[in-house]
Amino acid sequence: MSNQEAVLAHERSSAAAAVANDEAPPEERQQAAFVAGERNDGLRGRGTLRIGVLGCGNVGSAFVELVTERSKEIEARTGIQLEVVRVAVRNLSRNRDIELDPALLTNDAATVVSDPDVDLVVEVIGGIEPARELIVAALTAGKPVVTANKELLANVGVELYEVAEQRGVDLLFEAAVAGGIPIVRALRESLRGEAISRVMGIVNGTTNYILTKMSELQMPYAAALAEAQRLGYAERDPTADVEGFDAGAKAAIMATIVSGSKVVAGQVYHEGISNLTLADIEVARRLGYVVKLLAVIDIDRDAASGEGSVGVRVHPAMVPTTHPLASVRDSFNAVFVEGGAVGSLMFYGRGAGGHPSASAVLGDVIDAAVNLVKGTHGSLGTFGRSRIRPIDELTSEYLIGLEVADEPGVLHAVTGVLAAHGVSIRAAEQEGLGPDARLFFITHDAKESAVQATVHELRELASVRSVDALLRVVGPA
Ligand SMILES: NC(=O)c1ccc[n+]([C@@H]2O[C@H](COP(=O)([O-])OP(=O)(O)OC[C@H]3O[C@@H](n4cnc5c(N)ncnc54)[C@H](OP(=O)(O)O)[C@@H]3O)[C@@H](O)[C@H]2O)c1
Repeated sequence: MSNQEAVLAHERSSAAAAVANDEAPPEERQQAAFVAGERNDGLRGRGTLRIGVLGCGNVGSAFVELVTERSKEIEARTGIQLEVVRVAVRNLSRNRDIELDPALLTNDAATVVSDPDVDLVVEVIGGIEPARELIVAALTAGKPVVTANKELLANVGVELYEVAEQRGVDLLFEAAVAGGIPIVRALRESLRGEAISRVMGIVNGTTNYILTKMSELQMPYAAALAEAQRLGYAERDPTADVEGFDAGAKAAIMATIVSGSKVVAGQVYHEGISNLTLADIEVARRLGYVVKLLAVIDIDRDAASGEGSVGVRVHPAMVPTTHPLASVRDSFNAVFVEGGAVGSLMFYGRGAGGHPSASAVLGDVIDAAVNLVKGTHGSLGTFGRSRIRPIDELTSEYLIGLEVADEPGVLHAVTGVLAAHGVSIRAAEQEGLGPDARLFFITHDAKESAVQATVHELRELASVRSVDALLRVVGPA
């Protein structure tokens, strides 16, 4: 018996004693019954799943509304009635856009989790604390949890999955990656038998909206960002979106599921879109590409040793116009998956917004309710270890754009530097003449470290005024 199992067995036997203690208050006995593992009577014959919702903002309020709207049909199809019985918020006096019995509201989220009348907890507060603490308390009490919290899962997800596994309850999180798109369930269930080699996604609607406006309307970055903020697609402080942190968190969660190894947000290499110019986008267009902010997860498996390595990165990339991801416009999201047997798949839809995300939360709640009745739970299995490949090891085609002096021998000097680093040229193009000349090269597959060394050396050349474009290129689908 492992240490963890021994601790769990001890807690369960103490809890069993507490259940047997007639003098203990009923709330304590019910709580103890959960811990003792005596909760496998599912919904205790009531046929009603009583839901405690933590947070009633964009997602929480849309979820409460959707439960009301859909509960009859869900009951007809599953035999389980869903009922929101408690809702925790921060500010009790704030106006809510939805009809909500004020008696359900509290500003003490911990009491919702410990309430014996709550069978399942939906966490849509966001952030690390108190969300982490509340989720651990719910799982420990044997209550399934559904969360939309990417920041939390991208940092301490594996610890939480392990608590859920030890307690034998569901921790489901479909809405945490790409909102309404059912990519988490596809990766953790439908594609469980696949040797997935790559997952590549447009998983941030704000940046996709900005890039679409830059590409289609030649709107400069600052104007496109201002428009996204006006429409509510971008926050007043857009850093998390435009610098790739949000996409990085989603990449970490998907990488953990696909690789079966712990990958946290801090391990994801990320570059944002704030330095992209209309000139970059225009040259990509001329060469037959669109620029997208991509989250890319590459999985390498050594069949002999069973050991693997994972590359996880977020950066702008040139995607051929013929690739399915190139047609994902505006604030839409899509995730492209490459598997060994299944080939290529693409999942497309609304990656954010209260209602699409609430739909994903509700799907998880129904799954968890059905599992509770059956006395079972979903599982991500055990986690192994994979090496996280540093970005230096990435191999890709690159676009390198240079502003050069109008003098003889420039081309020779530049191609000499590329050759010295083993970076070979697939295509070259000159734009403009005289002092305004720009050179563009698309390389064959080259190593990131070699390309960075090339760029460093090019910047030192007297005839190179600046290296003003460096974009990775995605191969055809
Ligand atoms: N919005 C989206 O499109 C989207 C999509 C996918 C995933 N998500 C994720 O879903 C989660 C929620 O996002 P959201 O956009 O709905 O956030 P939000 O609109 O800011 O709502 C947060 C809610 O949590 C409540 N809250 C904050 N701290 C609390 C505390 N200590 N105790 C109790 N309640 C507390 C707030 O109460 P008050 O209302 O009183 O302030 C508010 O109702 C986040 O993890 C987010 O990443 C969001």
